[in-house]
Amino acid sequence: MSNPRVTTAYFRQAKQEGRPLTMLTAYDFPTARLVDAAGIDAILVGDSLGNVVLGYESTIPVTMEDMLHHVKAVTRAVKRAMVIADMPFLSYHISVEESVRNAGRMLQEGLAQAVKLEGGREVLPQVKAIVNAGIPVMGHLGLTPQSIHQLGGYKVQGKDEAAARKLLDDALALEQAGVFSIVLECVPTPLATLVTQKLGVPTIGIGAGPHCDGQVLVTHDLLGLYGGFSPKFAKRYAQLHENIMAALTAYREEVQSRAFPGPEHGFGLDETVLEKLY
Ligand code: KIV
Repeated sequence: MSNPRVTTAYFRQAKQEGRPLTMLTAYDFPTARLVDAAGIDAILVGDSLGNVVLGYESTIPVTMEDMLHHVKAVTRAVKRAMVIADMPFLSYHISVEESVRNAGRMLQEGLAQAVKLEGGREVLPQVKAIVNAGIPVMGHLGLTPQSIHQLGGYKVQGKDEAAARKLLDDALALEQAGVFSIVLECVPTPLATLVTQKLGVPTIGIGAGPHCDGQVLVTHDLLGLYGGFSPKFAKRYAQLHENIMAALTAYREEVQSRAFPGPEHGFGLDETVLEKLY
């Protein structure tokens, strides 16, 4: 079969063979279709949905229902990439049972192939239970945006010895608990490199340097869909904000000057039909 679905085995093999993994976010059908067609290995329906699409200031207001709505749109579009659904704030904190139920909904209703959740040793019981239910789990360490009020801002994590050791120990514990991969967000390059060397499962970096086993970016950042600030690590591969603004402004001006629509954009009517109406 050509282009089979990306699986956790594909992730493992990519690390063993030293092949970098690619991951991008998508929250809707057309973007997911483009990302999949571009040959990206995994599509994360991130809870960055909250900031990027729903207009919230953080990921904290995002609910299970919000996530499922967007996970369903993405999985309808994707043929090859692994679709990973982010577990939103509080969906895996109340109890182990509720965590498994919510993770299961991402696969059963959303048709995702895996879930991602934030945190280290404090979420191990949930991770183990979800893995035991047969659901692949991706971990997420470093800057974990759902804890933004505890972290005190969007900053690089693991900078002193205690924090760096904690991050490494959390990564090893998550691997022991059965995660198939771990996102490292805003982690100093040497620490992300060490974690990557120590783990058997692949690390996926965002603001964590070039030595992770794979990279992830928020697609809206990569495409330059927003003007203004974007984080240092978010390389822009296009300037869509400028292109879209130019198109929207041209449309407004052409409607106002009656340049649009032209004769080629309209539909004719037989003269005889028209005559009878006058
Ligand atoms: O929600 C998200 O988009 C993420 C990525 C930044 C890794 O968690």
